[in-house]
Amino acid sequence: MLKFIRNLLVTGGCGFIGSNFIHYIFHKTDYEGRIINVDKLTYAGNPDNLDGIDRQYPGRYHFERADICDFKTMADLFSRHDIDAVCHFAAESHVDRSIKQPGEFIFTNIVGTYNLLEIARAHMDHFVLFHHISTDEVYGSLGKRGIFRETTRFKPSSPYSASKASSDHLVSAYHKTFGLPVTISNCSNNYGPFQFPEKLIPLMTLNAIEGRNLPVYGDGKNVRDWLYVEDHCKAILTIMNGGKRGQTYNIGGNMEMENIVIVEMICDIVDELCGPDSAGPRRNLITFVKDRPGHDRRYAIDFSKLTNHLAWHPGESFQSGLRKTIRWYMDNAAWVERVRSGEYQAWMKEHYGE
Ligand code: NAD
Ligand code: DAU
Repeated sequence: MLKFIRNLLVTGGCGFIGSNFIHYIFHKTDYEGRIINVDKLTYAGNPDNLDGIDRQYPGRYHFERADICDFKTMADLFSRHDIDAVCHFAAESHVDRSIKQPGEFIFTNIVGTYNLLEIARAHMDHFVLFHHISTDEVYGSLGKRGIFRETTRFKPSSPYSASKASSDHLVSAYHKTFGLPVTISNCSNNYGPFQFPEKLIPLMTLNAIEGRNLPVYGDGKNVRDWLYVEDHCKAILTIMNGGKRGQTYNIGGNMEMENIVIVEMICDIVDELCGPDSAGPRRNLITFVKDRPGHDRRYAIDFSKLTNHLAWHPGESFQSGLRKTIRWYMDNAAWVERVRSGEYQAWMKEHYGE
């Protein structure tokens, strides 16, 4: 399939998963077309993640700073670049932020997705594929038992997951009603390089390195399923290449873990790699704090459809993936410093005038 795509629009390509995806597609596949990366560069979008890619792949990578909620700009971009496929990552992605300020989630995740679908529909004569990246959070929360299947009813808990569920419905509706060629993937929690340090693993890693408190919500026994980001990228390409149009595929890591267990693992690895902290083992930094409102208890994902139909399975083990990730944050102190400092904001202002 990828060989039929000439101009692939990647939305949100400066974010965590989007930037890993662009690295993956250029460095590790035989894709020969162009990538047009459109990103608004919110606090979570960081052009540093793709530093040098335009020089490495001259003529094949183009970046435009734009908002997917701006219909006119998006329509113009589709025409100018003769877009024939979309891989849609752009979203407000952090659950805690959606609880504090849901508005942006509604605009970007729902209206932004609608804009892209509507414009893709206008280019149906030569449009190859709209791949929509979504989350397992649309299915809601599980008790001790149970698993999310593609047929599980949506029951989102947070404004974030409700906005993603809404976008998933829109994508399906554009296939059913208008015949737009679409595929959808619902994935579990990702971790790896370039993740903004507000999410559990990079936040705890950096706090542990710096000897700060490790704030675990509630009793720490909420369960997530974890997948190394490169495995997610491979799964997306597998679906884009072989997935049936109109279908949804779950993606997961078969790696259910309680939050507290992950935080303890991070403490132990940081102790080993950085040497002991003057205040003692880093597990002493763990602090149980007030729970997240509406906190989903457990996620578990059945991705057998993707394995049975398209032969995808996760490659990275959690133990080695976590260690690699912690090392990445230790080796990339300049990246960390920039995303957390005013310097990054100043750089954005200089380059993009805002
Ligand atoms: P992220 O927050 O790191 O990146 C989001 C990117 O989208 C940023 O670069 C941001 O600048 C851009 N963006 C936001 N609003 C925009 C707008 N209006 N117009 C253009 N660009 C905009 O997110 P992520 O973790 O990389 O997630 C990417 C996608 O994957 C999201 O759709 C998310 O729902 C989904 N997802 C994430 C995970 C995970 O564990 N992180 C798991 C499953 C699915
Ligand atoms: O399941 C997929 C989803 O995973 C994606 O759709 C979201 O975009 C992504 O942000 C992620 O959502 P979570 O809410 O699961 O991720 P987060 O890293 O925020 O939290 C993971 C778990 O850790 C969750 O149970 C809350 C808990 N947590 C999180 C933070 C930031 C803490 O206990 N303390 C914290 O400080």
